[in-house]
Amino acid sequence: MSGFIPDEVLEEIRERADILEVISDHLDLKKAGRNYKGLCPFHQEKTPSFMVSPEKQLFHCFGCGVGGNIFTFLMKYEQISFAEAARALAQKYGVLIPEDRATARDERRESLLKINDLALAFYVHHTKGGKDGKIARDYLERRGIDWVICEEYGIGYAPPRWDALVTYFKEKGVNLKEAESLGLIIPKKGGWYDRFRARIIFPIFNVRDMVIGFGGRVLGDGEEPKYLNSPDSFLYKKGAGFYGLNVARKYIQREEGKVFIVEGYFDLLSMAQKGVKNVVATLGTALTPEQVRLVRRFGKEFFLLFDPDEAGKKAALRGLEIFMQEEAFPAVIPLPDGMDPDGYFQRGGTPEALRERAVPGVEYAMEMLMEGCDRGAVEGKVKAVAAILPFLLQIKDGVRRDFYLKRLAEMVGVREGEIRDTALTMRKGRKKGAQQEPLTAMHVSTEKKLVQIMIQYPEFIPLVIEEGVVDGFEEQNLRSIGELVIHDFQRHGDLSLDRLAPQLEQRGVREMTFTLAFHEEGLEEGMAERIMVDCLHKIKVKALTKQREGLTKRIKEAEAKRDEALLNSLLLSMETLKYQMSKLQKGGSKGSS
Ligand code: UTP
Ligand code: MN
Repeated sequence: MSGFIPDEVLEEIRERADILEVISDHLDLKKAGRNYKGLCPFHQEKTPSFMVSPEKQLFHCFGCGVGGNIFTFLMKYEQISFAEAARALAQKYGVLIPEDRATARDERRESLLKINDLALAFYVHHTKGGKDGKIARDYLERRGIDWVICEEYGIGYAPPRWDALVTYFKEKGVNLKEAESLGLIIPKKGGWYDRFRARIIFPIFNVRDMVIGFGGRVLGDGEEPKYLNSPDSFLYKKGAGFYGLNVARKYIQREEGKVFIVEGYFDLLSMAQKGVKNVVATLGTALTPEQVRLVRRFGKEFFLLFDPDEAGKKAALRGLEIFMQEEAFPAVIPLPDGMDPDGYFQRGGTPEALRERAVPGVEYAMEMLMEGCDRGAVEGKVKAVAAILPFLLQIKDGVRRDFYLKRLAEMVGVREGEIRDTALTMRKGRKKGAQQEPLTAMHVSTEKKLVQIMIQYPEFIPLVIEEGVVDGFEEQNLRSIGELVIHDFQRHGDLSLDRLAPQLEQRGVREMTFTLAFHEEGLEEGMAERIMVDCLHKIKVKALTKQREGLTKRIKEAEAKRDEALLNSLLLSMETLKYQMSKLQKGGSKGSS
């Protein structure tokens, strides 16, 4: 028997196995809040302090400190090795062991891809002739898309019936359960019905030209929802790829690595119609880091197209930040007000004119962030610097960051040295909190509460990330836990202490983390969000207060030395800080009043 078991298999065991069920086979457990409680089998005790969390799939003993997941439990309880525990669980829960599974997965994939291929053939067939075909072609013609383009992108039509695809699938002997898992048909009493009806169909391909999902648009305007997309499935994951990348990849090279990024299906098709085929579409969702990493494999110069209304601007800024986190710097192409790229071309826009609208993204973001700041007045300068600096500090590359700090100085009309000093204080403030000062009990308890909330209510982790407070935690162990938790969440889109346990162990914070995870007092249902907002507020006020103390001290020193230049820059930093504080106070008073 080989000892090695691949992660994939372990993952599936974790998914299927239930810790409560397994431990209950051996111990008596009683429900206690969100957890279950019993006598610890690993030490002598009369009152139960052994807890099991079905939610987190973990156990923990408040008495002797042992804890872990379903594997650890069996290993300790049965005195067996990890591989033995895994095999026992695999058998109990019917998980296939490695040798058999690679083939099983491949076969499943093959079979699902075949179903999508059949569906595509079906939809395309319905554009070819008859009444349906005419309706579809008329619509596409009205939208100015030639038939050659439709063919290149595989555009189809779903007839206006409830069972057209179901019937076709039955004729072809398709496993309808599998078709259901792809979202092509939907179960109803005694059968299935078609998801896409009376819609123009856009097949979504992966980069290897395989159909992984579909989108469909209604023909009339005003019908809801305007677009329907395939749900996530074994083949399709929203936000993982792009519409049109399979075609675009061939053209990106010819265009020296340039890629246009638009939102919608018709935006992309309109551009293709004008001969611009190095274009991909996000399909209306916010750009994801995964998408950025993907498109960087094919292109090197990126253009984000968007409508300059408030929503569009926000989306562009957000998209830019995602690119920047991956150290890529797209240009943005703001369109005339209220237009999407499709509208732009319909109203006579040309690809050349479009390209001329491109502005470096960071530059554009700076302009946008300082909108409404009166740069002639000190107040306005301070506000602009306070809004833009945090954005620029996200740039990891020092040379590039320096360049934009210089630009900021020019744009606002402040000396470069002053911007730099303010940046420095800000960076220091964000970095690790100084250790010399004794930790106040209250502050530690605030940090602790926040970590506890992150662990028990992972849905709030993005908020904590956004505020960037964890780096500055004063209590080292809590900082370690916070950082690991955030890292796990960012990597996997959810939090699993179980997955994280080895790293927690390594940093010596496993027991502390589990204690926080199982501790329910003071975190009643429904309170978590309010407590968290309150904690975030306290931590930020504390950080800013500390920065202010430091600055005050440096200002006094500069005054004593009569160093005018330094003094000026410190005073600007102080103004920026005060502005941040007043903003915080305005925002923070909501929760406490
Ligand atoms: P828009 O609402 O901007 O539509 O959504 P559009 O692309 O301009 O569509 P047309 O020109 O009226 O045909 C942008 C994209 O967001 C997704 C689609 O991918 C769409 O292309 N979306 C929009 C949906 O997935 N569902 C919807 O109900 C609406
Ligand atoms: Mn449109």
